Amino acid sequence: MEDKLQKLKEIVEKELSCSAHSLDHTTRVYNFALNLAEGESIDKEVLEAAVLLHDIARAKEDTDSSGNTSHALLGAEMAESILGELEFSEEKIRHIMDCIRAHSFKGGNPKTIEAKILFDADKIDSLGCVGIARAFAIGGQYGQKIYSEVPLEEYIKDNLVGGELDGKIKDVSRHAPNLEFETECKFVPGRLYTEKAKEFAKQRLDFMNQFFERLKKELKGEA
Ligand SMILES: [Fe+2]
Ligand SMILES: [Fe+2]
Repeated sequence: MEDKLQKLKEIVEKELSCSAHSLDHTTRVYNFALNLAEGESIDKEVLEAAVLLHDIARAKEDTDSSGNTSHALLGAEMAESILGELEFSEEKIRHIMDCIRAHSFKGGNPKTIEAKILFDADKIDSLGCVGIARAFAIGGQYGQKIYSEVPLEEYIKDNLVGGELDGKIKDVSRHAPNLEFETECKFVPGRLYTEKAKEFAKQRLDFMNQFFERLKKELKGEA
């Protein structure tokens, strides 16, 4: 099994080599998934393979300007042939493909414990210190302010498609880390499946809340 996983890691590394961000993310999700799996009765081989492969098609979705590529669906297809070559059993291949398909918010409806753990570990990576760091890294990439004072309701109405919280961001340069916190991160715990992940998510959100409160004060010249 170690041998197969090592080979999988090498394949994923190669596929994501154009996007260091995704590879770092995959490693964090892997570590966190193992944490969530402690004490659970799981198929470790399925979970580890699913986590390693879950974003294998990320770069393909990001570079498809038509917007028609779903990295979860394409990733499951890519996983099928990779896992076949590594001689995973038919049953495990089906299971791993289901986990990969179900990991995205859009089509996601994880049914098995392995799929639920992958989903939760993936979403938690947008919270806490890592979530803050990722939000600022993306903010820098798109020239966003470090803090936006725009009233939340006004922002949702003007910059999210359909004026709805669920709507896609229209102009990413008008987004900001604190708005990501208000419109996305705060809703993550309600969408998780495992109790352990919900508890971790709450702790990470508390920290983010304190961080953005303090940032707001510092920007106003308070100590
Ligand atoms: Fe993903
Ligand atoms: Fe992911």
